Amino acid sequence: MNRPSADPTKHPAPPIFTDHTGTRFAPRFALRRRDAALLSELMTRSREELFVITDPSLPDNALVYVSPSFREYTGYASEEVIGRNCRFLQGPRTHPSDIKKIRTAIAAQREVTLRLVNYRKDGTLFVNQFFLTTLRKAVPRGRLRLKPRPWVVRVVDRMKGERFPSGVPMRRDRREPVENVYYLGVLCECDHVDRNLIMNFGANFRAKQPEEEYYLEEEEEEMQRSMALEEAVAQLEISTAGENTVGVKTPLTPKRA
Ligand SMILES: Cc1cc2nc3c(=O)[nH]c(=O)nc-3n(C[C@H](O)[C@H](O)[C@H](O)COP(=O)(O)O)c2cc1C
Repeated sequence: MNRPSADPTKHPAPPIFTDHTGTRFAPRFALRRRDAALLSELMTRSREELFVITDPSLPDNALVYVSPSFREYTGYASEEVIGRNCRFLQGPRTHPSDIKKIRTAIAAQREVTLRLVNYRKDGTLFVNQFFLTTLRKAVPRGRLRLKPRPWVVRVVDRMKGERFPSGVPMRRDRREPVENVYYLGVLCECDHVDRNLIMNFGANFRAKQPEEEYYLEEEEEEMQRSMALEEAVAQLEISTAGENTVGVKTPLTPKRA
């Protein structure tokens, strides 16, 4: 039997991002709308902005793109840095706790903004106002939307351990498989008056779009919930073939103290 062909509306071709020198970054997947917007904005300002992209699916989270201004400012040519980890910017006065903060944010796929000491190729020091974020794979629109019955929702919540007994929601783990993520680092020399405008660039940029942000977050959450529910229902259907509903629910009822 022939498999149905991929639906182009659900699998859009990944767009390519080009900076002002014509250097391209071609992600292997379509980025989420807000991440694509952030990257497009940076690319249009690539004459001024220092930014880099790494691919965590490559060994040592290697650089796959560096902006022309990054090359100019740090003194490194593309060939010298692409394929390497960005830690070559660190040196004797870079504080280990700053490195640790970045390492932790990378592991958790969370955003981080900090100021750290970095060095150019010629050994001169600069204070880097650094912003790190992820660029994530777009979630296809229009995936299955279930209207689950309330008990199914409760069962799934319990299975996923999303709530403490007090009812306080746990922090959701937002990590994705590394194949679905790039990291974006935006650098800024602190002392430079003009470039101070870019401090917390991503945060400011996103703050200008609170409604869209909210909408996308909600949509994404709903999508993930639907997928989890779909999976859970499928599992329940398999395990309940020939049983009644009570037989399924009993083992999942929380133990009372
Ligand atoms: C996208 C991206 C950009 C980075 N940019 C810098 C940077 O500008 N300066 C810096 O000191 N470290 C930067 N890092 C951090 C290092 O690459 C590395 O992750 C950090 O040193 C912690 O890892 P390590 O303990 O293995 O060295 C960046 C990391 C990523 C993912």
